[in-house]
Amino acid sequence: MTVRDFMKLKGRRRIVMITAYDYPTALLVDEAGVDGVLVGDSVSMVVYGYPSTHHATMDMMARHTEAVSRAVKRALVVADMPFMSYEPGDRDAVINAARLVRAGADAVKLEGGVEMADRIRAIVRAGIPVMGHVGLTPQRYLVLGGYRRRGRRRSDAEAVIRDAEAVEEAGAFALVLEYTAEEVAAEITDRLSIPVICIGSGRYCDGQILVIHDVLGLYPTSPPFAKRYADLRSVILDAVKRYAEEVRRGEFPGEEHVFHAKEEPP
Ligand code: KIV
Repeated sequence: MTVRDFMKLKGRRRIVMITAYDYPTALLVDEAGVDGVLVGDSVSMVVYGYPSTHHATMDMMARHTEAVSRAVKRALVVADMPFMSYEPGDRDAVINAARLVRAGADAVKLEGGVEMADRIRAIVRAGIPVMGHVGLTPQRYLVLGGYRRRGRRRSDAEAVIRDAEAVEEAGAFALVLEYTAEEVAAEITDRLSIPVICIGSGRYCDGQILVIHDVLGLYPTSPPFAKRYADLRSVILDAVKRYAEEVRRGEFPGEEHVFHAKEEPP
């Protein structure tokens, strides 16, 4: 899947994206046939246990991008630019985007609309495809006043629409639209000629993306817009508890897991 193939999916069929942060998971999501794999800065929360995405660093993103890109053979690999890797200026943005491409990303994603249009333009000019991200932008939760829904009032809807249009105009090849009212997401999907990939923004988008930990049910709670397709938390808890019990009872390892010394003639 190239960026051009990805763009051509708009209007043909719904696009599927999911996050992955490590080699074994990336192997599986690619084999499952998703169109795009995002190495999200959510890694800092769901893998490292930090309270926000502010803790994702370039080192972290580059290492996880390397692991994911070694596994993915088919899907488009998009790497998130972490907090403060692009905000300070175009030069930082281009250098850091290039580092993620060298780590194996096919494209980078960054948060922000009108105010980040110049950064998007600079990175695209350097030859690196950019996926935008507007609506709820978690790296900006401090100025947004928390992880708030966007686009419920017309004035806010218009601000999100302006952001989406600025991202397209700056040269992004696709857009992630997060936690935005369904009607506004539908309007943006109609207005833009690039694919609009939604998370928590309803049904009328060109595609959907979810965080893999939410899809697999690895944590007891997940955001209201996410759907659990498995309960891996229970599966893992059960497996590890059975392993612990068998070790404690002396049932593991069994005869089939051991080898014996050769009997040598006396
Ligand atoms: O980091 C991430 O996982 C994301 C998705 C929520 C789109 O940006």
